[in-house]
Amino acid sequence: MARYAHIIGWGKAIPRRVMTNDDWAKLVDTSDEWIRSRTGVRERHIVSEGESTLTLALEAARNALEVARLSPAYLDLIIVATVTPEYQFPATACLLQDRLGASRAAAFDLSAGCSGFIYGVSLASDAIRIGSYQYALVVGAETLSRIMDWQDRATCVLFGDGAGAVVLAASQVPGGVMSHMLGADGSGADYLIMLGGGSRHPTTHETVEQRMHYIKMNGREVFKFATRAMDRATRLVCERANVPLEDVELVVPHQANDRIIQSAAKSLGLPDSAFYVNLDRYGNTSAASIPIALCEVLEKGLVHRRDHVVLVGFGAGLTWGALLLQWETPFPTVPLKWWQRLYNAIYYRWAQLRSWLARLRRRVEGWQSRENGGNGEPRKVPPPSHGETTAPSTARPGAARDEGAKVPEISPTADERASHPEESPTRARGANQEGS
Ligand SMILES: CC(C)(COP(=O)(O)OP(=O)(O)OC[C@H]1O[C@@H](n2cnc3c(N)ncnc32)[C@H](O)[C@@H]1OP(=O)(O)O)[C@@H](O)C(=O)NCCC(=O)NCCS
Repeated sequence: MARYAHIIGWGKAIPRRVMTNDDWAKLVDTSDEWIRSRTGVRERHIVSEGESTLTLALEAARNALEVARLSPAYLDLIIVATVTPEYQFPATACLLQDRLGASRAAAFDLSAGCSGFIYGVSLASDAIRIGSYQYALVVGAETLSRIMDWQDRATCVLFGDGAGAVVLAASQVPGGVMSHMLGADGSGADYLIMLGGGSRHPTTHETVEQRMHYIKMNGREVFKFATRAMDRATRLVCERANVPLEDVELVVPHQANDRIIQSAAKSLGLPDSAFYVNLDRYGNTSAASIPIALCEVLEKGLVHRRDHVVLVGFGAGLTWGALLLQWETPFPTVPLKWWQRLYNAIYYRWAQLRSWLARLRRRVEGWQSRENGGNGEPRKVPPPSHGETTAPSTARPGAARDEGAKVPEISPTADERASHPEESPTRARGANQEGS
């Protein structure tokens, strides 16, 4: 039976601190007029002390799970697309997995620049469609303010921080991610790069002095590449899904530059109004820009059932990619009741406690093995507590609610059930929201 991958939840996290063009004009030789006319950006949000890529990813992920009405315990896969991970390693996705209490999810980071979210959703939806996974969380999260050169006016004014996330679910209902395309051309790697801190230029006093730990960009070349990539990628996903361009109701592009978006609209022959733009408020948030924009589009009710929506992006690598969605998830989303929120809050506390206990257990085991001179009896391996599943799994946590190999579906609202009695899909629900 055919399986489809639908977006059933979405969420975003935007740092509170706002930095306007005028604020930048106090720090570097620039002006509000220059920034607005060349890029379209008016302001952007910047993390404060205590905030990081992980904290933004966590907030966006929790919001997406809430909309999906899904417990993190059901997640099979977590992908975090980012060029500003919490650490060089381990993956921010693993830290997120731990903080969410997504105990059976595989987790990894994905570095594909600003195309990262498109890459992540494409891979996750393929994994869902072939039956490897039921539920996946894809997050785009960035703190570009931590790697941009605050003295380089050519780059610093462009970027902002934020995160966006979606939950994907398997369903038999046709629709969801209908097609995608991903591209890369490493010959353009130098156009957008952070030179220092990797294997080629490990961190030294010299690399820091030479400002090699900041974003370096050839704006003009990236601009030329971006306009071509947006056009080609959009056309290709429409072709692959057999959907004429004029049937696309909405395009959610990577929010890098208003002029790039306008140029793509022109070459595709689509009206500017078909493109959602929010870069004036956020700047370029790299892998987070498309999920943040998608989230706003959905929150504002700009997408309707059966609409065709194209997500398209480009970025460092060079990389590019697009995907075409046929929207099936019902609106409006039902807000959680107070006790469901309370349940979630308790669940996240429990996840933190469990993580703390796991760390404590490792310490005690380490202490015991030192006591034994490190060569005592082989320890018994505890049963896996984190979802070490190897085969495609359809079993949900909570045996009482296990529906075996049945493919979960997207549930309609009462209104939608009434208006489409024969075709409304059913939304998958988490154990914590059952019976709501
Ligand atoms: C960065 C970008 C806005 C620059 O616009 P541009 O019209 O190409 O401007 P240029 O780079 O040609 O620079 C023009 C002049 O403005 C100056 N300038 C650059 N940044 C400036 C700023 N913030 N304020 C004022 N002047 C600035 C340059 O120094 C240059 O001066 P010069 O002619 O005296 O040398 C544009 O190239 C762009 O958006 N490129 C794509 C970048 C992108 O999307 N990156 C992310 C990809 S994911």
